Amino acid sequence: MSEGETHQLVLLPGDGIGPEVIKAAETVLCTARDYLRREGIELSWEARPIGGAAIEAAGKPLPDETLFAAQAAKAVLLGAVGGPQWDRLAPHERPEAGLVSLRRALSVYANLRPAALLPGLEGRSPLRPGHVQGLDVLLVRELTGGVYFGEPRARSGERPDRRAVDTMAYAEGEIRRVAHVAFRSARRRQGRLTSVDKRNVLETSRLWREVVEDVAKEYPDVSVEHQLVDSMAMLLVLRPQMFDVVLTENMFGDILSDELGGVVGSLGVMASASLGDEGPGLYEPVHGSAPDIAGKDVANPLGAILSLAMLAEHSLDLPLLARAIEGAVKEVLRQGLRTRDIAEKRQGEQVIGTREMGERVADALAQDLHSRQALNATYF
Ligand code: IPM
Ligand code: MG
Repeated sequence: MSEGETHQLVLLPGDGIGPEVIKAAETVLCTARDYLRREGIELSWEARPIGGAAIEAAGKPLPDETLFAAQAAKAVLLGAVGGPQWDRLAPHERPEAGLVSLRRALSVYANLRPAALLPGLEGRSPLRPGHVQGLDVLLVRELTGGVYFGEPRARSGERPDRRAVDTMAYAEGEIRRVAHVAFRSARRRQGRLTSVDKRNVLETSRLWREVVEDVAKEYPDVSVEHQLVDSMAMLLVLRPQMFDVVLTENMFGDILSDELGGVVGSLGVMASASLGDEGPGLYEPVHGSAPDIAGKDVANPLGAILSLAMLAEHSLDLPLLARAIEGAVKEVLRQGLRTRDIAEKRQGEQVIGTREMGERVADALAQDLHSRQALNATYF
């Protein structure tokens, strides 16, 4: 990113705890904006409704205004969608349909979900410490294909003979492009890639493995192994440190990413980036809308804030800002500050709310940026 540019972001708070965690991330964003302005880089943003909030405001989960604003933006930061009050709606009218359609409309086919233990949160994992030490996985989930989108999908018949069909379909090109993203990521990491499929049963998986093996020839420096998804589910619990980059299709990735959240024991701090070849990236915490704790100022905003860091890295091309935001998160954790979900009731810990967590991260970021500026005004 060069001087004199303005980058327009779109915030989609959504439902449940979405608005609270996005508000906290916005506090951090304000700090970044004030600093970047001095470097000649302008950031601006606007909020739009999606999901249940959009159903209430505009009658559908992805209103045209929201879609157009997202398409025109440099990047999109989303909170969460869904809630029990919209559970009875038809499938295409549900809040989740808004999110899934947005992913497809933005062609963000590669969903990056990093899972690692943040310093101070090692004890959150339900697994024995020696078991998870050094865990550092990047899950690359295909996001715009597979059974989420395949046709036909339908219901038919009457009780007691009702039927339903979903279709898992993949075109070679869809597999190839996300495989390239995963191989490039592996190259920047430890050079190991595990591709996950169900080749012993599914046609799509047989194609998946063939295409991944093809793509692998272009990355002789990356070591590749294949795992079946059922066995992978077990290995992620038995030997999570064994893995570097994990590549898989849409639904397997949905399931395995929640499993990784369970393994690290703090879903609230997990971030994600969804990227395509061009156009805006979509950034969202991995946690859902958690309606049971919404509006209580107890939700963990660190997943949203770390998603903002991924946005800085991948969409704004400001990796140093990304590192600074991550550093600020580590700093507040080092200070013992915790939201309720990651508190362990240890000495030196202080439980704070969503809003305050946002403020404390923003403060830590401001301090860091301030000291850097003294050293080098063109740091970014
Ligand atoms: C996720 C979520 C979504 C998905 C839902 C909310 C549609 O579970 O991002 O993991 O299934 O992709
Ligand atoms: Mg999920």
